[in-house]
Amino acid sequence: MKITKAVIPAAGFGTRFLPATKAVPKEMLPIVDKPTIQYIVEEAVASGITDLLIITSRGKDAIVNHFDKAAELEAVLERDGKEELLRLARGVSDKINVHFARQKEQKGLGHAVLCAKSFAGGEPFAVMLGDDVVVNDEKPCLKQLTEQYEKLGASVLGVQRVGMKNVNKYGILDCERENGRLYKMRGMVEKPSVDKAPSDIAALGRYVLTPAIFDCLEKTEKGAGGEIQLTDAIVKLMETEPVYAYDFEGTRYDIGSKQGFLAATVDFALKREDLRDEFAEFLKRTAANL
Ligand code: UTP
Repeated sequence: MKITKAVIPAAGFGTRFLPATKAVPKEMLPIVDKPTIQYIVEEAVASGITDLLIITSRGKDAIVNHFDKAAELEAVLERDGKEELLRLARGVSDKINVHFARQKEQKGLGHAVLCAKSFAGGEPFAVMLGDDVVVNDEKPCLKQLTEQYEKLGASVLGVQRVGMKNVNKYGILDCERENGRLYKMRGMVEKPSVDKAPSDIAALGRYVLTPAIFDCLEKTEKGAGGEIQLTDAIVKLMETEPVYAYDFEGTRYDIGSKQGFLAATVDFALKREDLRDEFAEFLKRTAANL
């Protein structure tokens, strides 16, 4: 079965990015000139997703507006013959059906995913975190995972090694290599300390899940950080179904952290033909003074 539905949880408070995130959703912070969430929606489109559910919360209306049609703006750009700006303003909105649901209380990522139960309608679906951007110009990260799902018919988590010093920031896997980049999962623990971490293989914001995850989420109590954790529900899912992990190819940026946001801004600017030369000169001058 092909995966055509994806969920982007984007309801979190974004406290690591205060005060910017007091009035602006972190998913709307621009990397160069495009909101973070648009890169993720473009990855979904390039991975064959046709229906997308964005989970929002109070104060996140800018996300809804961004994917709405800006009729007046488009009319002015059309009248003035500004084709390129018109293309940018339209963005991806006519390439994918974008739906919205509200998470009324921010009870955690697991709870946000549970808000997608009726959207999934008993089908397998993808989850793409609203602040994780992955770059792979050949094959998008999500496409790599959906291809694995199509072969295995089981849930697949996108993972990469993060180094032992970073395990306390992620859901960390206990797993064994099945073949190549594919692992079979035995367990998972949310944000463990170094001495409790089963590995340094971390779930990094991309998942393909079977609908059985919803029963597991309904039975999941608050876990690490007092939140309903997707990690805990995945551990429950493993009791009844095999769950795999795929070490995806691509560079991943955690835009919810300041370091990740800065790194993405520099890397993305250097890839832009219209910005590269002048910006590279500036970076060289700055680096020479460090
Ligand atoms: P994070 O923990 O990175 O997001 O959750 P956060 O809580 O917004 O950020 P900080 O830690 O306070 O800075 C990962 C993803 O899950 C979503 C977030 O929006 C983010 O995309 N999320 C988290 C929800 O949708 N609902 C929640 O209750 C929690």
